[in-house]
Amino acid sequence: MKKLGLLLLAVMMISLSSCGSDDAKKAKEGAEQAVEATKEAAQEAGDAVKEAAEKTGEAVKEAAEKTEEAAKEATGAADVNGKTLFASNGCVACHNPQNKTVGPAIKEIAAGYAGKKDELVKFLKGEAKAIIDPAQFAVMQPNLATTKKMNDAELNALADYMLSIK
Ligand code: HEC
Repeated sequence: MKKLGLLLLAVMMISLSSCGSDDAKKAKEGAEQAVEATKEAAQEAGDAVKEAAEKTGEAVKEAAEKTEEAAKEATGAADVNGKTLFASNGCVACHNPQNKTVGPAIKEIAAGYAGKKDELVKFLKGEAKAIIDPAQFAVMQPNLATTKKMNDAELNALADYMLSIK
């Protein structure tokens, strides 16, 4: 009888311990799955961040390109504007690009004001004396009423145009 009791006890112990190791195995599996899931989540999050960063970079690049394009267009418009202003305000009536007519040739004005754009703008604002042909200033003077009304952008464009003539 004693032997049978021992045997039963042994069987119980084995089943218990095997049951216990089963639980441990399950727990381990669970933990492994959790670690795996965490890894996957981290990878996904990392990918999302990377993608977002790439998209942001692309957007910034695109914006920079657009700004550059707009700046180029603005400069181009300013060039056209100066020439257009010179024509639409009647300056062409007395100023030919290459030859002296009623007034000095534009290239002559450009040579006299080379590197002195500020001075040229000042003259057009009526804030500086004539330096090209002061004796004839009376003929030019009425036109300053027109240029004095212009804003800085227009005066700059006009000056840039005149200084571009060689
Ligand atoms: C009626 C003819 C006439 C018209 C129109 C005319 N100019 Fe003149 N301009 C002259 C004469 C003449 C001179 C030479 C006198 C002088 O140097 O100021 C002159 C000189 C100039 C000078 C040189 C100024 C200097 O320092 O001597 C500039 C710059 C100029 N004109 C710009 C213009 C612009 C811009 C316009 C149009 C808004 C214009 N002119 C319209 C006759 C004219």
